[in-house]
Amino acid sequence: MTKSADNDPWHGSVTEQPLLYDKYHNDFADDLQFYIRECDGHAGILECGSGTGRLTFPLARAGFEVTALDSSKAMLERLTQRSQLEFPQLLPKIETVLGDMTAMELGRTFSCIIVPFMTFNYLPDTSAQINAFRSFVRHLRPKGILMIDYMSMHPNWINPSQKPVTISENALENGKRLKITRSITSDLPSQIVEQERVFETIDEQGKSIRSDVVTWRNRIVSVGEIELLHLLHGFKLRGLYGGYKSEAYTSKHLNCISVAHIPE
Ligand SMILES: C[S@@+](CC[C@H](N)C(=O)[O-])C[C@H]1O[C@@H](n2cnc3c(N)ncnc32)[C@H](O)[C@@H]1O
Repeated sequence: MTKSADNDPWHGSVTEQPLLYDKYHNDFADDLQFYIRECDGHAGILECGSGTGRLTFPLARAGFEVTALDSSKAMLERLTQRSQLEFPQLLPKIETVLGDMTAMELGRTFSCIIVPFMTFNYLPDTSAQINAFRSFVRHLRPKGILMIDYMSMHPNWINPSQKPVTISENALENGKRLKITRSITSDLPSQIVEQERVFETIDEQGKSIRSDVVTWRNRIVSVGEIELLHLLHGFKLRGLYGGYKSEAYTSKHLNCISVAHIPE
């Protein structure tokens, strides 16, 4: 198998590759109903790290006004392009902001802030996390809710096998198959986990005909850190969930979703 060349448009960090992000992640919808349920009764949502709009569009379609904030120009441009081409009817409900959740100054408050799909794990250290929480406090209304879906301390992240592991192999059209292989390295002192996923298309003869390589660099977060961050910034944690059906978080879960508010 040969990897894509470095100048291949399908090679690189996920936040700089909006088309690739859409190709492999846009169909994921397991978390949508969770946010619709939890944000019920609230008009506006600030989505921190909106990416290309995987959640933004269905949330707007469900009736919410969504402010889509992202620090990647490429991701936000793709979101804007998608709203114009695919969802023009949703344009009045969506506002895009190029910005960093650790330093945002939007000049208004929201009744829901969501940080979905491991976006909080893009913050590289404690000081970035504290700055993000200060931003959340500045932008949240009284009784407003904050939800963070983060990669927690699962053995997969902290003690990964150094060998590439096949995480799925599914049939495509015309007898082809898509094989996804993941390699992870982790550094415990910094809590940084680096993942490389190879999305390989295999033809009917078993020959590799295309290989897209995507990399992630994330800082894993413990439940204790999340609890402390909430506590130090005046939040009351309402739930720590291990899945989008609001099931309790356990050691088996790869990620955890916190739901919190600032008491009046
Ligand atoms: C995993 S993607 C999630 C995208 C989308 N919310 C979804 O659920 O599919 C993370 C996004 O967060 C953005 N991001 C990373 N750090 C950020 C920061 N400090 N402030 C705002 N956006 C950030 C990245 O550019 C990327 O688009």
